[in-house]
Amino acid sequence: MLAEMSRAKVMGTGSYIPEAVLTNRDLEKVVDTSDAWITRRTGIKERRIATEGMNTSDMAAAAALEALGSAELEAGDLDLVVVGTVTPDRQFPSCACVLQEKIGALRAASMDVSAGCSGFIYALSVANNAIRCGEANHALVVGAEVLSGVTNWTDRGTCVLLGDGAGAVVLSRTEDDTGIRSIHLRSDGSFGNLLYSVDQCEDRPGPGVLPDMSALKPYYLVMDGQKLFKKAVECLEEITLWTLQRAGVDVSEISLMVPHQANIRIINALAQRLGLNTDKVYTTIEKYGNTSSASIPMALNEAAKGGRLAPKDKLLMVTFGAGLTWGASLVEWSI
Ligand code: UT7
Repeated sequence: MLAEMSRAKVMGTGSYIPEAVLTNRDLEKVVDTSDAWITRRTGIKERRIATEGMNTSDMAAAAALEALGSAELEAGDLDLVVVGTVTPDRQFPSCACVLQEKIGALRAASMDVSAGCSGFIYALSVANNAIRCGEANHALVVGAEVLSGVTNWTDRGTCVLLGDGAGAVVLSRTEDDTGIRSIHLRSDGSFGNLLYSVDQCEDRPGPGVLPDMSALKPYYLVMDGQKLFKKAVECLEEITLWTLQRAGVDVSEISLMVPHQANIRIINALAQRLGLNTDKVYTTIEKYGNTSSASIPMALNEAAKGGRLAPKDKLLMVTFGAGLTWGASLVEWSI
């Protein structure tokens, strides 16, 4: 009975932003592109690249420790660790288990969620449900990516968009009337061909037959940007309106929207369709590009630490990515 009335509220946020900066001017030397094109078509000016040897779990750990610190909790307090990522250190064990060991969250159950750029909101939903149903009191939710490792650096259509980074939130059970008011997820696998990874599996002759190792390609991503752009705007609007309706919140009540940072034109189109003023939209795309699952928690940490959120504020997070997947959450801020 107690569990049914509980909610999950955000207790702390954190992020890790790699030091190395890759500017549009740097990319002009790599592919046939220009600072003017990238800025006009995407809003990106620069992105961060993880140092060699740095794995997704390393960045996740740095973000997680900052989030735990601001929540004033220890890693040992965590019952659950969920990581949204498309670039885990390896296929298994999960990035979440590697992270659990790195931060010493020894009591927690740990798992990854694979939902393209929607990984963080999907992970947030898993943790929210675990808290609401009484399975966890404290949960760590992370979005972390080393996209530079899966980028095709000869494809100007995608390599100019991507960056590395990590963000995290700590959720705790509360009986207050704050926290996650609604969270909704969607997917449509019939649009999977718009954004996908080409990986070693595609060269495998079949189960049980050894592949020709010399023919294995590195793992990289392929995207039909234009079609994806149109679907993104439609899906983001649909899920936002549904999430607001389920939370009983009007667009005019939104204090801040932290959207997935894929393209400034997608973000502006969504804000315009919703009738949301751009001063209520938080963007980091100009500095970090598209960091997939990490983009929302990185931006959220920056917004929260920068004084853009106060208790009782209504925060909308909304995302879209490979799958296709999309989702949104309306959170009443609590810190
Ligand atoms: O994270 C979640 C999923 N990702 C997204 O949601 C991304 C959605 N899509 C987009 O953000 C945009 O579609 C892109 C930024 C990827 C591309 O912008 P666009 O305005 O849709 O450009 P386009 O693909 O229609 O290409 C327009 C032109 C083409 O040249 P032609 O055929 O008109 O001569 C491209 O070859 O721009 C060319 N182009 C470039 N030129 C300079 C494509 N990439 C580049 C580039 N630099 N980097």
